[in-house]
Amino acid sequence: MVTEPPSRAQVPPAPAVSRAQVLVASNRGPVSYTVRDDGTLTSKRGGGGLVSGLSAIGSGADAVWVCAALGDGDREAVRRTGGRLDPADTGGQRVRMLGIAPEVYSDAYNGVANSTLWFVHHLLYQTPLEPSFGPEFRLQWASYEAYNRAFAEALADEAAEGAAVLVQDYHLALVPGMLRALRPDLRIGHFSHTPWAPVDYYRLLPDDIGRQLLRGILGADRAAFLTRRWADAFTACCTELLGGTGNTRIGVHGLGSDADFLRERAHRADVDERIVTLREQIGRSTSTGEVRKTIVRVDRTELSKNIVRGLLSYRRLLADHPEWHDRVVHVAFAYPSRQDLEVYRDYTAEVRRVTDAINDEFGTEDWSPVVMHVQDDFARSLAAYRLADVALVNPIRDGMNLVAKEIPVVSERGCALVLSREAGAYEEMGEDALGVNPYDISATAKALHEALSMPLDERTERAKRLAAAATALPPQQWFLDQLTALRAL
Ligand code: G6P
Repeated sequence: MVTEPPSRAQVPPAPAVSRAQVLVASNRGPVSYTVRDDGTLTSKRGGGGLVSGLSAIGSGADAVWVCAALGDGDREAVRRTGGRLDPADTGGQRVRMLGIAPEVYSDAYNGVANSTLWFVHHLLYQTPLEPSFGPEFRLQWASYEAYNRAFAEALADEAAEGAAVLVQDYHLALVPGMLRALRPDLRIGHFSHTPWAPVDYYRLLPDDIGRQLLRGILGADRAAFLTRRWADAFTACCTELLGGTGNTRIGVHGLGSDADFLRERAHRADVDERIVTLREQIGRSTSTGEVRKTIVRVDRTELSKNIVRGLLSYRRLLADHPEWHDRVVHVAFAYPSRQDLEVYRDYTAEVRRVTDAINDEFGTEDWSPVVMHVQDDFARSLAAYRLADVALVNPIRDGMNLVAKEIPVVSERGCALVLSREAGAYEEMGEDALGVNPYDISATAKALHEALSMPLDERTERAKRLAAAATALPPQQWFLDQLTALRAL
């Protein structure tokens, strides 16, 4: 939706409390709210790398997390609290939630962040027709600026003298520059969780906006990335468009999975229950009586995750290797994401259509070749991880991809990993994975066949090394390393 940009993002002032030494800023916060029918609010805490990373500094630390209200429930919580959330809802974490006007928020988040910057960094445009930047985009851009300004002002307001501020991701690319102007005393870091586009592709953006984004990030003392490859791409864009990176240090901090958390969580009763149901859905081969093998994938339904080509590769496998009929099941979980965007809804529909087509073409009375679930259920994801013989992670492009770093840790029999060489995780796990070009469905089908046929002892050995590489950089360390590097400047 395009609306007249307001001069300010209309964030009501929050009541004063003591100022923080460590600040994190991200679009999505650690908690979200829903309004019940009777008008009361319920809160739900989220997971993810940032939440566990921040836990490393302990709940007693002088830290605050600044985030945006995402929906009506969040906005209501902001209205009732003035934006400083009740610690009972956040697990003790101090959270400042910004009630940005819905039209401004939608233009910034859906229009600029998700439909433009996400597309640029993941190379998702169908370039004969898109992108095309006209006056509508300029209005959305004004909202993106207003939304970034709201964050910069809230951070300036919350931060103690000389505090460290860790700004997250493409939503908030302008924040470091804006915050630097307001508070030159702060130490500012920016972290990109996505890939960074190659220069020629980055230049699809209007010239002034491309430069403004780079300058925004370069307002930070440190700009950090998940892999060397993305850091180099960023540096190349700065060199080409601005002549260099100025005084900003460029850092690389890989993010791994949290082994202790995963192993404990994957053996709770709710996961055991779901294993029983999944085992029934997978079943045994009608001819050999053996338990069928599984190819597991778990993704949010993002265009960049390449779920459709994953399914087409599996179809190719069944067409080329009839010996797998009735002996393998593709367990594919595709959870809803960004459903406000039409292209995401269309993509979800395509995932379902291709799934049905494969089940119609190859399925029998006793065998569903694809078991697809689209309703988000973390316990069921862990159950699938435990049962995985093969993990399929084939994104078009991905900053890191934590699923690739979770399945080998949790899988009971040590899974083989088919991994896109365009995922950041490939830098650390490529040696023991079967690497694929994500666009090549024939090669992916071949890799799936190899993975299914891999002798068990080789698979176990590789899985051990994959699990070790996957957990080498736990989120707590990832977070502390950035803080230390920032303070050492
Ligand atoms: C993925 C990306 C992150 C990004 C997040 C936003 O996890 O790796 O870089 O911040 O998506 O997702 P959201 O659901 O908040 O749009």
